[in-house]
Amino acid sequence: MPDAGANSLDAFWMPFTPNRRFKANPRLISGARDMNYITPDGREILDGTAGLWCVNAGHNRPRIVEAIQRQAAQLDYVSSFNMSHPLAFTFASRLAAMTPPGLDRIFFSNSGSESVDTALKIALAYQRARGKAGKTRLIGRERGYHGVGFGGISVGGIVRNRMYFGSLLTGVDHLPHTHGVAGNLFSRGQPDHGADLADVLERLVALHDASTIAAVIVEPVAGSTGVLIPPKGYLERLRALCDKHDILLIFDEVITGFGRVGAAFAAERFGVVPDIMCLAKGLTNAAAPAGAVAVSRTIHDAMMEGADAPIELFHGYTYSAHPLACAAGLATLDVYAEEGLFERALTLEPYWEAAMHSLADARHVIDIRNLGLIAGIELEPRPGKPTERAIEAYEAAFDAGLMIRVTGDIIALSPPLIIDKAQIDQIVDTLRAVLSRID
Ligand SMILES: Cc1ncc(COP(=O)(O)O)c(C=O)c1O
Repeated sequence: MPDAGANSLDAFWMPFTPNRRFKANPRLISGARDMNYITPDGREILDGTAGLWCVNAGHNRPRIVEAIQRQAAQLDYVSSFNMSHPLAFTFASRLAAMTPPGLDRIFFSNSGSESVDTALKIALAYQRARGKAGKTRLIGRERGYHGVGFGGISVGGIVRNRMYFGSLLTGVDHLPHTHGVAGNLFSRGQPDHGADLADVLERLVALHDASTIAAVIVEPVAGSTGVLIPPKGYLERLRALCDKHDILLIFDEVITGFGRVGAAFAAERFGVVPDIMCLAKGLTNAAAPAGAVAVSRTIHDAMMEGADAPIELFHGYTYSAHPLACAAGLATLDVYAEEGLFERALTLEPYWEAAMHSLADARHVIDIRNLGLIAGIELEPRPGKPTERAIEAYEAAFDAGLMIRVTGDIIALSPPLIIDKAQIDQIVDTLRAVLSRID
């Protein structure tokens, strides 16, 4: 038997990772502070991805760390089934005061995936509670990423996240994605063309009938698939069509929430309010795992009034509203507010946009798109070897002191909102050098 000693890399089956490649040449992080990761040998790596789109206030912020430490010493855990703790109610109220008007009932989960499954289940249970039990169909979108639960991969549209896992949920259909519309290359902010892709919902309604459709779920800005910014007018049309056909609209704001797009939520930035919103990541600055679902008062109240049992929703997690998550979340909201980080993201957006688009003439680049403090830089794939160039870019960037994220042949950037202009320049200079070096 091979030795799996304490320092062996073998036992940890790493998520969404080419395990064999990684373990042949591991890149480890042992510390972090503000904009930087720190490697075991003491090198600083500038974090161009805010962890995984989640460390919006930067790493190891003392206020958040101390809040978690205090809470751990006072109340490590209490269930929220039939009881709870004061911070859970405070955190929910603080969130309800930030979310778009009407979306002020908060259900807690532990991750984005769980928020998505929770949102889908609430949508179905609500339709039933109001006497529309036939509305069971869920509509997602091609290239959508909604985490890895069976609900999320069913409405999601990333092929490899679905194809290995059986028949998934039944009664799911998909809208077309919004990428590749003629005239949209190198768009700055929202692209001009493609709002009419929302009209495909009319065709799905014609095909299935609105009486069978519970909800449409989309990411307002698709992140994990490689940064697809919604065309001008697209989300507005989706909202109007959902209203017309009495279908719920769910925004998966797991990455767009908490300042990423220069506002508290994409719903606010785009002026389009969904019926349900999925949250996670920046909710606690990733310092403790947490997710939340913001639900409209209408849905919530209908379920309270239409309940056929004392428990109105047969759903919940052992760690819903975990005390450490609530403490981390409240401290995180304080940091966002006190440092004006959402406004900071909006103020920095023009500089960020210009900096990102300055890479238009860098080697291998075939498209660039941006919004808020997000950018997608699409590379030409190597013939017959998709994703390889981007993986090499990732490794070379890390070795050059920059953490980026790659998905397919797209570099996705989403730095902490505390980034400054010199650090934006550092991202651009490092990327240009890396792209010129790799084939
Ligand atoms: C839009 C969206 N939804 C859901 C998720 C899943 O979140 P988690 O990995 O916390 O389950 C992600 C993660 O990247 C996401 O980007």
